[in-house]
Amino acid sequence: MKERLLSGMRPTGKLHLGHLIGALNNWVKLQDEYLCLFMVADWHALMSEYQDPSHIREYIVDNVIDWLSCGIDYQRSIIFVQSDVKEHLELDMIFSCITPLGWLARCPTYKEQLKELKDKDVNTYAFLGYPVLQASDILVYKAEAVPVGEDQLPHLELTREIARRFNHLYKNIFPEPEAILTSSPRLLGLDGRKMSKSYNNFIALSDEEDLVRKKIVSMFTDPKRIRLKDPGHPKVCNVYSYYKIFDPQRQKEVYERCTGAKVGCTECKNSLAAALILMLKPIQEKRRLLLGDKDKIQDILEEGAKSASDIAAKTLKEIKELLNL
Ligand code: TRP
Ligand code: SF4
Repeated sequence: MKERLLSGMRPTGKLHLGHLIGALNNWVKLQDEYLCLFMVADWHALMSEYQDPSHIREYIVDNVIDWLSCGIDYQRSIIFVQSDVKEHLELDMIFSCITPLGWLARCPTYKEQLKELKDKDVNTYAFLGYPVLQASDILVYKAEAVPVGEDQLPHLELTREIARRFNHLYKNIFPEPEAILTSSPRLLGLDGRKMSKSYNNFIALSDEEDLVRKKIVSMFTDPKRIRLKDPGHPKVCNVYSYYKIFDPQRQKEVYERCTGAKVGCTECKNSLAAALILMLKPIQEKRRLLLGDKDKIQDILEEGAKSASDIAAKTLKEIKELLNL
């Protein structure tokens, strides 16, 4: 039997190239090896968006459409929305009882987020417990593998600690899940910072051709290169780092033409844009089809919720017996 894997994303915006390179491409491959559960973490979204939750529903559907367009296969994997499976919150309550406050207050992501999300007031009870709910998401399915970005490693560590504590207090029923990190290099945003919705420095999977071109043309290049006849330094150029990821066959050629002052930055960017547009084309074609068939998305999510609930209900039954609830 295949091991179980769970991962999730918060529906707080459109998906972009960072999601594709950092997560989705990896998820697609992992479907061959694991029984995969892919979850839209709407409760986790609410924790930061509670002041204006009006877009959560729209992003749930839009993100799932992108997942399917990139190759997530609803016939092999379970795709569902967190709040459709009530057991997540039940386990969250139980784990809340056994998780010391100090573990949460000390969590590095908690401290960072309080500082980083300045425009949002996340100084709340639920936000402190963010990793407890995440542990519940994973352990309610007894998942053993969790593909996440490096930023999520502290949450995985807490998940293991909570599992250990439960196993020690009551009965050894939970695995200690392992993180699966992607091997692909990290994609930076158009401005060289981390690609993120809040920096508005991303290319969305749904961006039209013209917009992709415009965004690529706006990228910074080697600042020392002013004229075509100045040799460039690809190693400090973000455009070149995109070539490495999206058009590796041409990486060497670009390197040589740049350092040999044989190509101008505008031409270099235009051909990168062309490669990206070509890569996005099949994804966007699938997207268009699915956008016209939203009933199908609802059906997939309903089916997914049923399959997920079947597994989660078994875990909760076992736990309630253990705790005499
Ligand atoms: N915290 C994750 C993120 O922001 C999303 C998430 C919620 C998740 N529950 C999860 C990821 C469980 C993996 C497993 O990216
Ligand atoms: Fe960057 Fe290409 Fe310009 Fe070289 S030619 S500096 S790789 S954009």
